[in-house]
Amino acid sequence: MDYKEFFSADTGSFMRSPVREIFRKVDLSQIYSFAGGYPSAETFPLETIERLSSEVLRKYGAKALQYGATQGVPELREAISKRYGVPVENIQITTSSQQGIDVCTRVLVDPGDVVLTTNPTYLGALQSFKSYRADVVGVELDKLEEALPAGKKVKFFYAIPDFQNPSGQTMTLQQREKLVDLARKYDFLIVEDSPYRELRYEGQPVPTIYSLAPERTLHLGSFSKIMAPGFRLGWIIGAPELLDQIYVCKQALDLCPPIMDQYMAAEFMAGGELDKNLAHTIELYRDKRDYLLSLLEKYMPAGVSWTHPEGGLFLFVTLPEDIDTVALYDRALAAGVAYVAGSFFYVDGSHKNTMRLNFSFLDKERMEPGIKLLSSLL
Ligand SMILES: Cc1ncc(COP(=O)(O)O)c(C=O)c1O
Repeated sequence: MDYKEFFSADTGSFMRSPVREIFRKVDLSQIYSFAGGYPSAETFPLETIERLSSEVLRKYGAKALQYGATQGVPELREAISKRYGVPVENIQITTSSQQGIDVCTRVLVDPGDVVLTTNPTYLGALQSFKSYRADVVGVELDKLEEALPAGKKVKFFYAIPDFQNPSGQTMTLQQREKLVDLARKYDFLIVEDSPYRELRYEGQPVPTIYSLAPERTLHLGSFSKIMAPGFRLGWIIGAPELLDQIYVCKQALDLCPPIMDQYMAAEFMAGGELDKNLAHTIELYRDKRDYLLSLLEKYMPAGVSWTHPEGGLFLFVTLPEDIDTVALYDRALAAGVAYVAGSFFYVDGSHKNTMRLNFSFLDKERMEPGIKLLSSLL
């Protein structure tokens, strides 16, 4: 049967994630994978979660398994409110920050509206923007004003200001302030996607964009990298008038975020377990980042450069112009090493001589043979 005539026009703009396609094809444990953004399984607090699941069931009983409020359970909103110093009414719980990106786009964007983003940017965000047929414009931060398209409504600027996926870079305070000035001058919103903010291995935190412009920023947080991605929990901080539309939209999406998971996350946060787990996670990832940087220094051929992230899970490698990392990919995978080609993160698919490397997932002992193999292919 030909199903094409049944599909909506939106599906014509859906984009398959090359990263997820890689994972469908290979068994990650059999290769040296620097590809995905998976946290290390060592950071998952298994025993704490086992204990919390019993405690939550004892404390809340059947309520933990019932439907709940669309905004999220009050206990979790209160824990987030306390940790980040924002009023409870400015917090909406989401079923992951990917849903946060999607729901913001859904309530803000009509087909043809402009969404601005840094170039490169997070692939999952590009997928979401394109699925609503946004006109996605990738810009260089320092040339943002010149890049603003004349005569078209810009709905929002999407930024990952801390330890960006894929580049690992962090926006300076001046860049954040300039972005806010331009958002006020040209009247657009800012979606600040911040799943890595708490994973800082050096240097001082830079104020969030939300703290600089709370009236026009939607700040997205996630439990995926600070607790475990399997919980699929995140949050949006923003003006109650903006959150109200998101709340109505979420009623149609999933009625409410998972209740049991939210109670567990609330206990995890409020009871001090989050900070304990974060301290261990930061130590582990700092060590892995430093080790990967030292391996690149040791093995990469001349003409190759890379970013030095102050936190997060990724660094970005730039190779000589004549190396195409998309073309190289199948050979690399056949040899047993995986990365993500950098061009997938560029709005226009350019920068074929770049790649993203993740340092959180692979065990430290497997990093050296992996980088040796990768550099021999280059
Ligand atoms: C920048 C960015 N935003 C959002 C997400 C999605 O995270 P979540 O697991 O909360 O959906 C990711 C995942 O890697 C990411 O890198």
